[in-house]
Amino acid sequence: SIGLSFQASPVFDCFPEPNGASQVSCEARGCTWQPDSSNKNVPWCIFKDGVGYSLDSQSGSTYTLRKNNGPKNPWGSDALEIKVTTKSIGNILNVHIGQAGRYEPPVDFPKDVASSSETLSFKTDTTNGLFSFQIVRDSSYRKLFDTSLGGLIFSDKFIQLATYLPSSNMYGWGENTHQSLKHDFSKYLTWAMFARDQPPNSGSLDTVNLYGVHPYYMIVEPDGKAHGVLIVNSNAQEVTTAPGPSIIYRTIGGNLDIYFFPGPTPEQVTQQYLKFIGTPFLPAYWALGYQLSRYGYTGLDEMKTRIQAVKDAGIPIDIGVADIDYMQRYKDFTTGDNWAGFSDYVNQMHASGMKLILIFDPAVEADYDSFQRALSANAKFIEWESSSQVQRDIQNLYPMAKDTKIMLGVVWPDKHVGFPDFLDSTGNTQKWWASEFVRYQKEIGFDGIWIDMNEPSNFGTNDAHPWYFDSDDHPNDAPLFCPTNGSNEWEMPPYKTRAVWKFGDASNNAFLASNTLCMLGVQDNGAQRFYNVKNLYGWSEAKATQQALFQSTGKRGAVVSRSTYPSSGKYAGHWLGDNTARWEDLRTSVIGAQEFNLFGIPYVGSDVCGFIGTTTEELCLRWQQMGAFHSFFRNHNTIGAPAQDPAIWPTVAAATKQANLFRYQYLPYLFSLHFTASKDGATVIRPLFFEFPTDEETYDLGYQFMWGSSILVAPVVYQNTNSVHVYLPTDVWYSLFDYKYGSLISPGFTTVSAPTTSRIPVFVRGMSIIPRQTPTITTTATRLNPFELLIAPCEMGRGKGVLYWDDGETIVNSFNTHNYHQFDFLFNTTTTGGRLTITHSRKASNINLPTLDIIEIFNFPNAPDFKSFTINNIKTNINVQTSTYSGVTKRLYIQTTG
Ligand code: GLC
Repeated sequence: SIGLSFQASPVFDCFPEPNGASQVSCEARGCTWQPDSSNKNVPWCIFKDGVGYSLDSQSGSTYTLRKNNGPKNPWGSDALEIKVTTKSIGNILNVHIGQAGRYEPPVDFPKDVASSSETLSFKTDTTNGLFSFQIVRDSSYRKLFDTSLGGLIFSDKFIQLATYLPSSNMYGWGENTHQSLKHDFSKYLTWAMFARDQPPNSGSLDTVNLYGVHPYYMIVEPDGKAHGVLIVNSNAQEVTTAPGPSIIYRTIGGNLDIYFFPGPTPEQVTQQYLKFIGTPFLPAYWALGYQLSRYGYTGLDEMKTRIQAVKDAGIPIDIGVADIDYMQRYKDFTTGDNWAGFSDYVNQMHASGMKLILIFDPAVEADYDSFQRALSANAKFIEWESSSQVQRDIQNLYPMAKDTKIMLGVVWPDKHVGFPDFLDSTGNTQKWWASEFVRYQKEIGFDGIWIDMNEPSNFGTNDAHPWYFDSDDHPNDAPLFCPTNGSNEWEMPPYKTRAVWKFGDASNNAFLASNTLCMLGVQDNGAQRFYNVKNLYGWSEAKATQQALFQSTGKRGAVVSRSTYPSSGKYAGHWLGDNTARWEDLRTSVIGAQEFNLFGIPYVGSDVCGFIGTTTEELCLRWQQMGAFHSFFRNHNTIGAPAQDPAIWPTVAAATKQANLFRYQYLPYLFSLHFTASKDGATVIRPLFFEFPTDEETYDLGYQFMWGSSILVAPVVYQNTNSVHVYLPTDVWYSLFDYKYGSLISPGFTTVSAPTTSRIPVFVRGMSIIPRQTPTITTTATRLNPFELLIAPCEMGRGKGVLYWDDGETIVNSFNTHNYHQFDFLFNTTTTGGRLTITHSRKASNINLPTLDIIEIFNFPNAPDFKSFTINNIKTNINVQTSTYSGVTKRLYIQTTG
């Protein structure tokens, strides 16, 4: 493949720490000082050749390696002996590098296998005495992974693995803000991965770590075949994209447990990956509705007013969201004084077909009944390892916590908080957590749960004068201090990764514990070290919270989580965090949603109109239009920022109404995509290259995306722009928006008009049959309307599609037993007209099934006479109420009376 900016071999950075090296400090490490002012990202202090291990012995699929005589590791003593073990799980290849007895993430991946037509082989090489391995695709002999470039380092708290890649078309790794979908290999970019309460900063090229951790990437090889790679490691870590193309991966704990997914199509890679880590949960149908949220409602009245304004503007909306404002001084499971009547309002919402999502933060204040019940139930919190470490000045203030080892921190509540331990293997913590939701749900009948601050976020760690001292809430709360002064192995490991860089300023965020708890904390009664499991906090909370939702509501609802790890999608969705009301944030959120679909978390979206800062009418309008195509679709705003719900501006209200009506019309399709993702493993939103992997033009089209394989969306993401330069890969495409609705649009690059008064460009691909319904003000009401089918034939006049339909809320325990309908649609254009075959391949009992009343067919050759209307090969005297056909657009629209 072309596109590499240079082919040079990568060099290994011997001084990746934030303050950079000098010649003296570099040479003191035994490394070579090689300044290169032409490219500021090229490391100046580099390892001498020969870093690595040699092969000692092999027994079956286990290779014993010995540290060679090459350069030593500056970050601890090299392990003298490590083992490389390979195994196959179906056609997935696993390579495990490390030592028995070291930490492994306690994540219960189902490891189910999706079939593949492709196989991979493990090869080894010992040229120059250096052990390396290669993962080879058998069908093409291509090396997908090749560690022969050297650089393998293995020590207790510093591990490095480097590999050549078969192409620079690499996607994924997270969570970071990516300015482009495809990675850049031209300038040694190092991306940090360590869960942190860190707003995405889309304004500059910033490789900082955000809320979640996803050590997973996908590559499209030069022949269009794709593979995926997962590194199961949960420590603070980073990856550098380097010339070659190559990657240099570093982590500071655990082992390297690597899984290779053979594809060969990008969608098959995703399917294999998702079956392995756990397919995503199926959101309740209503959870695909529009959500209105904000931080800073002064009380229930304001929430009511804003929801009513949106409804009055005729904008479809399903969900009201209450942020921490609803609580009493930010304490979970309490209701604030300005929220009297909340429960009645929720009943009204339910009566009008709407739902409520409430936020819950993990940390609970150490002095009220929920905390006391936790202690009584033997629930666990993140703890200090020993009583002697406990920060007594804090602990002594709280009688309930006094004799515990609970590590108390500071979040939103006025007083100190403890962090529930969701890795508690006794299950007591998870049981107590669920019981709090069950109790509170009886008071306020919420339907869905939003979990936040679960990196976990802790304010002001190691900061003598934290920002919150200036706030009214807790001016005197002592901040958490971790023992960072000495050489504490957990707080001050020899290498701390890019996670301690913030906007390039080391002093700004120099500790791993910054904004979180102390690394030396323990979980699961001392069995787990926070240093290792911190990145699993959001994952473990999501898992416990999904159970809490099921138990408290008896329905499947939806959970959304800020912090995620591979397999979080099984339990929760995600929103992209505290973005800013800027055009660049709109753009990066289009990319972010595609990435989270790769990560198996398809219920994802951004804070529409922007969270931080003051949005503008135009930006909000465009964001509403784009967000209408994200599964998680929520307008959310920060405290103090002016209201930005769509009813604020007539133009935004009008555009949102149009966009939402379109979304609600196509929800049966969007829901069916989620159903497929949950049942079989799939993306919902996907990058264009997923569908056209041999078309190089699609490799970096971050601002366009597909809904499944049939619908292409090209949002307006630039200010003052009334058109979109869109790329339609070689295929049959029809416009599905105002611009030439129903007509064929030629493939290639085209500029299509998209004024603010129209909808954003949407196209449907030939060969598609899309189920839809006439949209109404809620999904609940829309679900009762008759079905429609949109048939978009391919060149040969054919189409196919599927509809999954259930009651929209029953918990899915297994798709084998779940009560649902499945319809498969096939369409052929014949010499006499068209033939639509509908197969009711799975029948549910007692589930409302609207009739199919409307069929719209694009590119239909002639006006039909309807004398013989055939459904399922049966001639039907169907009562055609109205039918329109245009010889110009060749669009046929049939409305029947059932
Ligand atoms: C965090 C969340 C944000 C929320 C706020 C208050 O910043 O990311 O969405 O509004 O906390 O709960």
